[in-house]
Amino acid sequence: MPKLSALKDKVAPLYRRGDAVYFLDQLALPGKVAYRRCATPEAVAHAIRAMVLRGAPLIGCAAAYGYALAAKGAAVCDGRLWARLDRAERLLAASRPTAVNLFWALRAMRAKAEDLRASGSRTFYRSLLAEADAVTREDVEVNRRMAGHGAKLLPKGGALMTICNTGALATAGIGTALGVIRWAHELGRAKLVYPLETRPYLQGARLTMWELAQAGIPSRLITDGMAAHIMKTERIAAVLTGADRVAANGDAANKIGTYGLALLAKAHGIPFYVVAPSSTVDMKTAHGGDIVIEERSEAEVLEVRGLRLAPAGARARHPAFDVTPARLITGLVTDRGVFRAPYGPALRKAFKS
Ligand code: MRU
Repeated sequence: MPKLSALKDKVAPLYRRGDAVYFLDQLALPGKVAYRRCATPEAVAHAIRAMVLRGAPLIGCAAAYGYALAAKGAAVCDGRLWARLDRAERLLAASRPTAVNLFWALRAMRAKAEDLRASGSRTFYRSLLAEADAVTREDVEVNRRMAGHGAKLLPKGGALMTICNTGALATAGIGTALGVIRWAHELGRAKLVYPLETRPYLQGARLTMWELAQAGIPSRLITDGMAAHIMKTERIAAVLTGADRVAANGDAANKIGTYGLALLAKAHGIPFYVVAPSSTVDMKTAHGGDIVIEERSEAEVLEVRGLRLAPAGARARHPAFDVTPARLITGLVTDRGVFRAPYGPALRKAFKS
């Protein structure tokens, strides 16, 4: 019997050494494995903004380190340091708007900093760094729990479809939706995976395909426009996606294209599962309409990696996320178990604090 704890990755998306955090440069993948060193909150915020790292849970871990680094070297917390922490928090919070894990991690770090200050800690910086380490370690365990819950939902030997990148590159562990897929593959419940290329940023083509190859999971990359045809002509057992924010009513924001995929899954009678950790559930956001959707540069649509596609002068739109209404979601797989409609009462009960 395979062991869930044995699922490991050769390449870590982030690690800390001393007073710096190193991010696997996802802009260089799949061509090159290289790390970028960040030793200040400014450098971490820049890395998040520039997409050196991405994926909701990983952005949360990075923000936790960014916050801790604002206190570098400080044994105790005085007024000046507190102002520095406030500035770092504002800077990091402004790096990307949609993934709530960023704000969740900053809240957790601030709460820790308040406790340390109130208790007169003399190891202020070291304790904050240890807290960021703990946030990151916890994500590993949370990923495993989601994989355990999610894989049970899938039939033996089926083909699965997914979008964006939700694996080890997007989290500190094995991933959200891709973590479920990896564990399902070990159990014989994922014989083939169809990742969507995920226009325009191509997380599916560049990152998910790279991870699937590393894990030895059979896959066939499809462009986003092929999803309906593949659903109609192949036997797809389930669609699994991650989420960047799940509202209190179960509406889920995720990578642009996810909503369309959910509509297609509904039309073809295919179960559609969203896999997200507790830190992605945002009980302060009543419904999906209140989620801020990041609007990214037009150039990312008009060009592919520097190659111009559209004629000179053409304009584009680039909403980077969309919201899938709760009614299209068959189940929400979290580290606390699987939730089903009606999501409002179920999430209120489980996440009321
Ligand atoms: O813009 P990105 O690459 O940060 O978007 C990532 C996604 O949308 C993922 O699907 C998401 O974070 C959910 S699970 C890791």
